[in-house]
Amino acid sequence: MFVVDDGFLVYAVEIMSAPSVYVTRIIHDGGLAMLTQAGFAVKVGSLRRPPDHNELVRQAPRHDAIICQVADRIDAAVLEAAKGRCKIIAACTVGYDNIDIATAGRLCIPVTNAPDVLTEATADLTWALLLAAARRIGEAERLLRTGSWQGWNMLEFLGADVHGQTIGIVGAGRIGAAVARRATGFGMTILYFDNADRPVMNALGARRVGLPELLETSDFVTLHVPLTTETRYLIDDRAIARMKRTAILVNTARGDVVDQAALIGALRTGQIAGAGLDVYQNEPRISRDFFELPNVVLLPHIGSATESTRRKMAETAAANVIAVLRGDRPLTPVPT
Ligand code: DGY
Repeated sequence: MFVVDDGFLVYAVEIMSAPSVYVTRIIHDGGLAMLTQAGFAVKVGSLRRPPDHNELVRQAPRHDAIICQVADRIDAAVLEAAKGRCKIIAACTVGYDNIDIATAGRLCIPVTNAPDVLTEATADLTWALLLAAARRIGEAERLLRTGSWQGWNMLEFLGADVHGQTIGIVGAGRIGAAVARRATGFGMTILYFDNADRPVMNALGARRVGLPELLETSDFVTLHVPLTTETRYLIDDRAIARMKRTAILVNTARGDVVDQAALIGALRTGQIAGAGLDVYQNEPRISRDFFELPNVVLLPHIGSATESTRRKMAETAAANVIAVLRGDRPLTPVPT
């Protein structure tokens, strides 16, 4: 059962003394059902937009748990407002760069994320972008839709080979390894750059190299690092300058891992051949410069957007909230 209160959907309102869970924006039904079945009062923000920061600060002290998403800036102001009542910040996502982990740790508010459940979906979408950029699928489809296709043409939409080429995987955690597994099916040489040696990658025949070598020798460079102070602008103008002119950059990680202005410049001048992007700096405000570039495939941060994956992400967040509000340990804690 739900009613609308103050513009919010409020589930399970009959249990007025029940712990209250603030879900900043609608999540998959699977997660909501778990929360209501656990007897919590669940307050869900807007269907369409993330709450603005003032709204987060206003809601934070009113709830026992907060379930947040990628666009919610859970900074010190929100956490200070939440302290005293809020017992958990549960991210529906694997990435938690939107949460001030140090402050959460200082205030003893546990933070959880949703690792594992989106690995395969994100790896699939990485390949969709890689193939689309290599084979110019966006350009070709746009031409067809305008009704201007003149028929089969020996010289039209000549793209890049994927099979047998070299893929450079930057960040060889779960998603990077899942991308590498798929690359074996394309008979590719696999290089990876990571802080640690990764036996899973080595078992696939991948070779660990330094970032300069990876950039200089890969035909496809794909990014799978979390956004941290070390990885912000990891791919800057100097990194891009090392890439082959025929190379394609794929980013399904975080927009800030790449210096977007440098990337736009490189795509414009043909310094690299193309890019496939699912993430951007300052989402959802996409630089309009991208729209004028035919050699970039653009998606709106849908790496994990499959029905079953989004269900599992919501259920993971709900399971963490249920555990913590029942006095148990969180299932997938983020180290704070
Ligand atoms: C994540 O989980 O961090 C993704 O970016 C959302 O798909």
